[in-house]
Amino acid sequence: YATEAERDLVIIGGGVAGYVAAIKAGQEGMKVTCIEKRGALGGTCLNVGCIPSKSLLNNSHLYHQILHDSKHRGIEVNDVKLNLKQMMKAKEQSVAGLTKGVEFLFKKNGVQYLKGIGSFQDEHTVKVQLNDGGETSVKGKNILIATGSDVTPFPGLDIDEKKVISSTGAISLEEVPKKLAVIGGGIIGLEMASVWSRLGAEVTVVEFLDVIGGPGMDTEIAKNIQKILKKQGINFKTGTKVVSGDKTGESVKLNVDSAKGGKPETLDADVVLVAIGRRPYTANLGLENIGLELDERGRVIIDSEYRTKIPHIRCVGDVTFGPMLAHKAEEEAVAVVEYIKKGYGHVNYGCIPAVMYTFPEVAWVGQSEQDLKKAGIKYRVGTFPFSANSRAKTNLDTDGMVKMLADPETDRLLGIHIIGPNAGEMIAEGTLALEYGASSEDIARTCHAHPTLAEAFKEAAMATYSKPIHF
Ligand code: FAD
Ligand code: NAI
Repeated sequence: YATEAERDLVIIGGGVAGYVAAIKAGQEGMKVTCIEKRGALGGTCLNVGCIPSKSLLNNSHLYHQILHDSKHRGIEVNDVKLNLKQMMKAKEQSVAGLTKGVEFLFKKNGVQYLKGIGSFQDEHTVKVQLNDGGETSVKGKNILIATGSDVTPFPGLDIDEKKVISSTGAISLEEVPKKLAVIGGGIIGLEMASVWSRLGAEVTVVEFLDVIGGPGMDTEIAKNIQKILKKQGINFKTGTKVVSGDKTGESVKLNVDSAKGGKPETLDADVVLVAIGRRPYTANLGLENIGLELDERGRVIIDSEYRTKIPHIRCVGDVTFGPMLAHKAEEEAVAVVEYIKKGYGHVNYGCIPAVMYTFPEVAWVGQSEQDLKKAGIKYRVGTFPFSANSRAKTNLDTDGMVKMLADPETDRLLGIHIIGPNAGEMIAEGTLALEYGASSEDIARTCHAHPTLAEAFKEAAMATYSKPIHF
């Protein structure tokens, strides 16, 4: 099966998974086509996810800090005003710069970019309904499904992106809502709650579980960050389930029930954010034409080399197994191209960091205490608070801690959990340590510059196998 026009690799989806695979394949000298329907590359992450949310998180933090956290630093500012339009414009500029950058990288690496909806016609042919009208088709020796995910809707509350919003509406509201209710205290819920609370909204987060943070966050860390965010003004209703909603009136009403059978209540809000998770996206992909089935959660089923049951059709990113994270999608994208080209690739799923970009940030890698307990694995804990770290004290940002979990016999690190102003950067050191199989003593005996927040990292390691100096 081969024609002159056949491509080495056809990729459906130009998100992080798809565009990274396309660039890597181009670098490997493969003839590659990437099909994206959005009209811009970068997928959820660049267009409506990681990048725009981080722009708003950064700038809303600066605004909030200038307003509420500058006088005691010796900075007096008068007449501080929010210009939401400009804040949104700054966000759009960052997004546009990055998505255009990916387009440039496509050209540089000889990637053919088709703007349109791709769907399987048969096992080697993808039909493309072009955004500009008309239709074409491409044949591929290999085909990669990288169609990502979209929002899980809340039954009975249709998302209009004005009164009932998803994360996409939450990054582009035209005014600050008076009252914002958030269904779901996972990462999206908490990042967006932070943005709008800092900009002046009264925010209530309703979370079904007893702890916030979504799957994966260490429970002690989750309880800690909840206290910090509460101090910042965010209201929480944990152990509480939103059972139904009604948006027919002026405000949106949410009926909530205590998960433990308490009294039902009604919450009133101008705007409700639905943040109860994301689900794999395979609509209009024509999977039925090639007989590919999905698992019970809608994910494309693959083996350890990212192959579906049709071996030349592979799949990576949010649309298949694993955490829905951009850097996980990126690792898989490189690995899948290596599997196709060379027959081997590598992703260490035990070593994928996670970061929540609140202030302070929360970051972790490896296993949590509850994971270890559940698996019956013995561990030793070492912690160090930022309140005892010289740089955090100088910066007047002392909320948070570093927590390490290590094997009690070998001292090998099992998990690292941080709440701190730059936890998202600091976790890179933890990830590297885990990848290299480091012990807590390895870190404790590595010289860290003074005065830095990273010294808290070193002292937490000291606390794991011995004693920290400064606490
Ligand atoms: P996607 O980015 O969803 O890309 C899939 C692409 O495929 C889309 O552009 C879609 O238009 C296209 N497509 C789908 N079907 C077709 C078709 N039939 N034909 C053509 N094109 C098609 N992750 C992090 O790691 N860090 C963060 O800070 C972070 N922040 C986030 C904030 C928000 C608000 C959200 C919603 C997500 C965030 N994420 C973050 C998650 C991250 O965005 C995803 O994990 C990542 O985008 C997954 O990449 P992907 O390529 O698998 O899927
Ligand atoms: P999530 O799965 O992290 O959290 C959803 C939360 O909603 C859970 O805690 C769940 O218990 C709760 N919930 C579900 N139904 C509920 C109900 N009826 N009432 C009350 N609470 C309810 O999902 P989220 O936050 O929507 O994020 C989706 C994905 O996006 C995540 O998997 C994450 O990986 C990714 N993401 C990553 C970011 C980052 O890396 N910084 C930022 C934003 C998103």
